[in-house]
Amino acid sequence: MSTAQAISQDEAKRRAAARAAEFVRPGMRLGLGTGSTAAFFVDILGGMVRDGLDVVGVPTSERTRAQAASLGVRLSTLDETPELDLTVDGADEFDAKLRLIKGGGGALLREKIVAAASARMIVITDASKQVDTLGKFPLPVEVDRFGLESTRRHVASAVARLGLAGAPTLRTAADGHPFVTDGGHCILDCGLGRIPDPEALAAALVAIPGVVEHGLFIGLASIVVIADAAGVRTIGEAA
Ligand code: A5P
Repeated sequence: MSTAQAISQDEAKRRAAARAAEFVRPGMRLGLGTGSTAAFFVDILGGMVRDGLDVVGVPTSERTRAQAASLGVRLSTLDETPELDLTVDGADEFDAKLRLIKGGGGALLREKIVAAASARMIVITDASKQVDTLGKFPLPVEVDRFGLESTRRHVASAVARLGLAGAPTLRTAADGHPFVTDGGHCILDCGLGRIPDPEALAAALVAIPGVVEHGLFIGLASIVVIADAAGVRTIGEAA
């Protein structure tokens, strides 16, 4: 019988964030992710800054910008700081090849731009996000508002051509209006169930003109830090 004490999902997220904070060094240029897990990291980073750490952060959303600013983290943009040392962000799903689904919080475009500008991306998660095959979490696809219905149909056709099922659904906000991203776009959520070939789907989606970006992050994560009651473990490059 395991002696591990059960921990809450929030506690698992906090522990993963704390492990990622061990990778932070003075002077680093950091990408700051979005979502509840990334928020734990930003909180911890705020404490480190209060204790004298000098780093600069590039936030992946207005939400994260506000949080980091309130904690006194020095902020920059990719225009001022185009190359980053490390990005720490959450994920909605990941597999053993460190492929991710992101965008549940609607920040996928900036998250992907910031991750691509970073020498390393550390993903922090609780164990519930690990899957054998991506796709249980509906794949977010960020689309321009112009021609939305036309783009939605193209996305549906691309999905069907790959033998996948699941109609793209326009994400709505709490007020019932379409959810609008920080970049002013909409999101189609594609509940596909299984994505056996994420690379093929990624290629098909980027070929659609109205698609701004999709939530498949392939070849971007260097390490995934996973926390659960049994402890904190990492997959990916040797820590
Ligand atoms: C934000 O757009 C997302 O990519 C988040 O990183 C992802 O949804 C994980 O969020 P949580 O940490 O809140 O689960």
